Amino acid sequence: QLSLDPLGPEWDCPLGSKDLEEEEGPWGGGSGLPPPGSFPGSWRQDVGLDCKGSLEGVEARAWTVYYYSLLQSCLQHAGLPETQDRSQVPRTGCPGAEVTLCILGSPSTFLSVLLEGGVQSPGNMLLCLSPAWLTKVPAPGQPGEAVLLVSKAVSFHPGGLTFLEDFVPPRRATYFLAGLGLGPGQGREAAELARDLTCPTGASAELARLLEDRLLTRRLLAQQGGVAVPATLAFTYKPPALLRGGDASPGVRMVELSGKEGQETLVKEEVGAFLHSGALGDALQVAVKLSGWRWRGRQALRVCPRAELGTVVDTVLALLEKLEEEESVLVEAVCPPARLPFPGSPPPGPELAVRICAVVCRTQGDRPLLSKVVCSVGRQDRPLRHRSSLPQTLEVALARCGLGETGQVAVVRQRVKTAAEAALAAVLALEAGLSAEQRGGRRAARDYGLKLHLVESDPNHFASQLVQTFIHFDVTEHRRDEENARLLAELVRARGLQLDGCFSYWDDCLVLTALLCQELGLPCSPPAAMRLAKQKSCTQLHLLRCQGPPWPAPSLHAVPCCPLESEADVEKAVHQVPLPGVMKLEFGAGAVGVRLVEDAPQCHEHFSRVARDLQGEADHPGIGLGWGNAMLLMEFVEGTEHDVDLVLFGGRLLAAFVSDNGPTRLPGFTETAACMPTGLAPEQEAQLVQAAFRCCLGCGLLDGVFNVELKLTGAGPKLIEINPRMGGFYLRDWILELYGVDLLLAAAMVACGLRPALPTHPRARGHLVGVMCLMSQHLQVLNSTSSRETLQALHDQGLLRFNLLEEILEQGEYEEPYCSVACAGSSPAEARLRLLGLCQGLGIDGPHYPVAHFLSHFK
Ligand SMILES: Nc1ncnc2c1ncn2[C@@H]1O[C@H](COP(=O)(O)OP(=O)(O)O)[C@@H](O)[C@H]1O
Ligand SMILES: [Mg+2]
Repeated sequence: QLSLDPLGPEWDCPLGSKDLEEEEGPWGGGSGLPPPGSFPGSWRQDVGLDCKGSLEGVEARAWTVYYYSLLQSCLQHAGLPETQDRSQVPRTGCPGAEVTLCILGSPSTFLSVLLEGGVQSPGNMLLCLSPAWLTKVPAPGQPGEAVLLVSKAVSFHPGGLTFLEDFVPPRRATYFLAGLGLGPGQGREAAELARDLTCPTGASAELARLLEDRLLTRRLLAQQGGVAVPATLAFTYKPPALLRGGDASPGVRMVELSGKEGQETLVKEEVGAFLHSGALGDALQVAVKLSGWRWRGRQALRVCPRAELGTVVDTVLALLEKLEEEESVLVEAVCPPARLPFPGSPPPGPELAVRICAVVCRTQGDRPLLSKVVCSVGRQDRPLRHRSSLPQTLEVALARCGLGETGQVAVVRQRVKTAAEAALAAVLALEAGLSAEQRGGRRAARDYGLKLHLVESDPNHFASQLVQTFIHFDVTEHRRDEENARLLAELVRARGLQLDGCFSYWDDCLVLTALLCQELGLPCSPPAAMRLAKQKSCTQLHLLRCQGPPWPAPSLHAVPCCPLESEADVEKAVHQVPLPGVMKLEFGAGAVGVRLVEDAPQCHEHFSRVARDLQGEADHPGIGLGWGNAMLLMEFVEGTEHDVDLVLFGGRLLAAFVSDNGPTRLPGFTETAACMPTGLAPEQEAQLVQAAFRCCLGCGLLDGVFNVELKLTGAGPKLIEINPRMGGFYLRDWILELYGVDLLLAAAMVACGLRPALPTHPRARGHLVGVMCLMSQHLQVLNSTSSRETLQALHDQGLLRFNLLEEILEQGEYEEPYCSVACAGSSPAEARLRLLGLCQGLGIDGPHYPVAHFLSHFK
C-alpha cells in the first residue's frame, strides 16, 4: 500500500486500524455479541445456518447470523440476488470439487474476491461464516499436518449467484484464507484452523505479525524493494529476530539499547543527530510512534516540530517504558502530501490530498502483479482512509488535481505499479527465506504436488533422477504403438503404480499415450482422434467431410491436399492440388522437410530428396520419422500465420491463447518471429479461436491441451495443422509469463480428469516479441557474441527471454530453430524496438537475417 498519508500539524491522534476493513471478529476473541441493530433490506431469515454435528454457543451463533445478514446486505447493495438456501438437500460430491477455495472471514471484506472466484471457478469459491462450518483433521500419512474439511458454506457462481450449501461428505479445502484480526485474541480460532495445513493458505498469523512490524517492513522495502520510505530512527532493547545483524539500510537507523533505565543520554544524542541529519530532507515535523504487531490499530502517534529536540526526546523516553522485546519506538520524518501542480488558480475550498492504494497479487510462479489502483481524495488536513472516503479511479482522482492528460496518468500509474510490485517482491523474498515455523505454514503454493512416473526411451535421460518412478522403455518405433501400449500397461500394473492420469507433450508419443490411457481406463481423447490429428492429410481430409450441422462447420477451415506414398502419387497429386503448393511430411514437426513447390518438377525433386535423406528416426531424431516418411501435397494458403493454444475439458473450451507469427523463411518455412498476445482485432482473434476449437471437436479431440496452427485468409481462418499437445518452442514459457497460466499443469490436470481453473478471458500482463536463431544463419554469433551463456545471463538479468530449443549446436541440411530470443514491453512496438536493438547488438540481425523485416508485422 502506497500512501501519501496526510498529517496535519496538531495530530496526536490514535491511529485507527489500517484501512483494509477489519471488523471486530468474534472467533476466539471473546468480544461478546455483534453490534446490535440490523442491516437495512429484506431477505429470508429462516435459513439453515446451523451446521450438523457442530453446535455453536449463543454468541458464536449470533455472529453467524450477523455475517449472513451482512452478506445479504452486501449482495443487495451490489444489485445481486439473495443467497438461495440449498442446505436441506446436501451436495454429495460435486464435479470439479477437487478445487475448493475456502475463505473464513467477513463477507464485506472479501466480497470482490468471492465474486471473482465465482466467475473463475464456479461453485468452488466458498465462504464460511463460522469456524463451526469447518473441521480440521489429521492428514493421513503426514504426521503433524492437517486437512481442513468444509461441511457448510456459501458457494459463489458467475453472475453473483450464491447458494448456502451443506456438503456430505465434507469438501476438502485446497486453499484456505482466514480473515485474521490482528489484535490480541482476535481471529485466534481462524488462525488455529490455518496452522499446519497440507494445503496452501492465504495468510498466517505468524506472517501477518512480521509484516505488521513497521520497522521490519520499512527496512525490507528500503533494502530489497528499492521503495522510498520516510527517514526513520528506531530504538529497541532487543531487535526483532529478522533484523538482528542485518546491514544498515538507507534512511533507516536502528539503535539497540542495553536496558530500560538510564538511556536518556544516548537517546538525546541519537535524536539530536537524527533531527539535524540530511536524511530528514526538508521535513518540518517528525512523528514518534511504537512499532510491533501488538500496537497495530492501537498505537498513539505523536507529531512534534523538528526543531523541538526536548519534546521528541521526552516522547521517546515515555514510549520506551511500554516496550517489550522485539518492539521499537520510531522517530520518523512526516512526509507532507504531494503538492500537485494546479494549472491556473487553485480551486476554492480546502486544499486536497490524494491517497493512492495499490492492490498487488501474487501470481503463479510467485510474481507480484498490480491488479487494482484505488484512490481517495479528501481534505489535506484530515486523515484520508478508505472507510471515510469514496473509492475513485486514478484517472478521476488525478483529473481532480489538474492532472488530466492520459500520458500523465500513465506515468503515475507506471510509477505506482513499479513501486507496489517491488514492495510485494520484497515481501515474497522475505517469506521465501523463512522456515515453516516462522512463516506459519508448511507448504508453499508453488509446488504442484505432482508425483511423476516417466516412460522414456533414453536410459540416461536427465529427468530419470527427478521423478518418482523411471521406466526405461523404447517407444521410438511408432508402428508398434499398439503392442507397446499393452506392454507398458502390464509394466504399470506389475509395479503396482496407482495412476490418476497419463499424458505426453512429445508429438511422437501422443497416440501411444492415448492407447495406454485406454488400456488403463484413464481419461484421454480417443486414440482414433489422436491418429487423425497426428497425420496431416487425414486431419484435413476428415475435416473437409465435416460439413455440418452445426454450422459453421469445420470443413470451412480445412485445406485440400493429397497424401503421397510413391512417385506415382506425386504425379497424380500435381493435377489435383493447385500449385504453388506445400509439400511436407505427414508426421513431421519443426517444419523439417516442408517446402514450397511451384511446379511438377519441383514436386518430384523434393519428394525424392526427402525419400532419400529422411528415412527413419536416426536420420533426424525427434521430428516424427518413427512414423515413417510419407508426405502430402497441400494447397498453399495465403495470409498471416497464428498459433492457438487451447485447453479443452469434456469438449468445453476453457481457455485459448493466440499468438502471431512473422513471415517464414522460404522455401523451407522456418519460423522467424512471433508476438503475443495477438495484434489482431478482437473479432478476428475470436474467429481464430472458434476455428481452432471447431477443428479439434471435428477430430474428436475433447480433453486436453492442443496447439492449432492456422492462417488467417480473406475468407477466414484456414487450418495448417493440429498438434494434439501444448504448443512447442517458447509457447508454454510465454503463456506462463504473460497470463500466469501453466499449460503443462493444465494438461496434467485434464489428464487426471480434473477441470483446471483458468481465467475465461485471460488478460496479458504485457507483450512479448521474439525471434528464432538458426544454426545456418547464426552459427558464428552463437559461438561468440551470443553464446548460450551470454543469452542465459541476459535472461537472468531480465533483459530478454531466452528459450533454448536444441541441446547441441550442429548444422544440418534440414533445419530446426536453435533458440528463441524475446523481449517484453508494455506495447508490441516497445517490445519490437527493444528486440531489434538487442538483435543488432548481439549480431543476430544481419543482411541475410533481416530481423526488422521479420518483426514488421507486429505493430
Ligand atoms: N498449406 C500451407 N500453406 C501455407 N503455408 C504452409 C502450409 N503448410 C505448411 N505451411 C508452412 O509451413 C510451416 C510448417 O508446416 P506444418 O504443417 O506446421 O509442419 P510442422 O509439423 O513441421 O510444424 C507452417 O508453420 C507454415 O508456415
Ligand atoms: Mg507446425
